[in-house]
Amino acid sequence: MTQDELKALVGQAALQYVTPGEVVGVGTGSTVNKFIDALASIKDRIPGAVSSSEASTARLKALGIPVLEASAVEGLSVYIDGADEIDAKGYMVKGGGAALTREKIVAAMSGRFVCIADESKMVPVLGAFPLPVEVIPMAAARLARQFGAMGGSAKLRIKDGHPLVTDNGQHILDVTGLKIGDPLAFECEVNQWPGVVTVGVFAHQKASVCLLGTPGGVRTLTF
Ligand code: 5RP
Repeated sequence: MTQDELKALVGQAALQYVTPGEVVGVGTGSTVNKFIDALASIKDRIPGAVSSSEASTARLKALGIPVLEASAVEGLSVYIDGADEIDAKGYMVKGGGAALTREKIVAAMSGRFVCIADESKMVPVLGAFPLPVEVIPMAAARLARQFGAMGGSAKLRIKDGHPLVTDNGQHILDVTGLKIGDPLAFECEVNQWPGVVTVGVFAHQKASVCLLGTPGGVRTLTF
């Protein structure tokens, strides 16, 4: 099976976690796009979705799935999203699609985080994938030096020759060279550095379930 087919497999499998009559939280990325496509087949059974990015909002709306403002919803029972890395405890690195801050907000609103990923995303220790960090632009250079002091190397994410601008009007640093052995402590530390909007370690908002796409089918991991 190709990686794309594995993504489609877990996107379809995630439908079992959608509760009829309830709003569902929707993440961002190519795996989530497969989930959104599958969600369209049951759109008449749900009132709508809370979305984590402009890109997912556009896709949901194009398929006729109503999108609700996060502030109009008290809570969500389930949030479905992908990951760049996930470990054996359900801790994740996210933000490859630059949507990490809104993803963390919607995850925090949700009772359960269902991570959908192909098996290439499973890692023993977080940190091989460049860690995305959303930052206030004026703090970017100082924060890059601060990551350097902890042994990492931070690069401003560039798109079409310019710093990428997130849905929140901010920039992204991608940090390589880190081994994140204690994701809970790491997330706490980096999140309080002035100028950090959100670090892409999802430890306090970790996955409750991971649907992992493998050539043998979908493996369900619970944390
Ligand atoms: C976007 C994310 C995505 O969930 C993550 O990048 C995985 O994406 P994909 O499903 O395309 O591999 O965090 O900000």
